[in-house]
Amino acid sequence: MSISRYTYLCRFDVLEEGVPQRFEAEGVPVSLVLTGDEVFAIHDVCSHSAVSLSEGEVEGCTVECWLHGSRFDLRSGKPLDPPATQPVPVYPVRVEDGSVYVEVVPRGGR
Ligand code: FES
Repeated sequence: MSISRYTYLCRFDVLEEGVPQRFEAEGVPVSLVLTGDEVFAIHDVCSHSAVSLSEGEVEGCTVECWLHGSRFDLRSGKPLDPPATQPVPVYPVRVEDGSVYVEVVPRGGR
């Protein structure tokens, strides 16, 4: 598998279950979330107002924005509750040899 389009973000073992962490990939703010045995990457700016989703709470496969409470699906970036109506970009993740890489070409989102 080629990872040439992916940007290295961190070692897998720095991730904590259910605790979002903010990184930058090619200048793009990305929140990484480990939940279950999957790692998700979501743009680290809420689509409702410019606050960091990595300061929100993770529940299952969602992250809740701390400011007004919209939850976003980590797989699709879609908002599940108001007031947000627009999705947030999500990015493909690869974990190889204990390292986490993200491709900052968005999948879904704006
Ligand atoms: S800023 Fe995120 S829901 Fe309002």
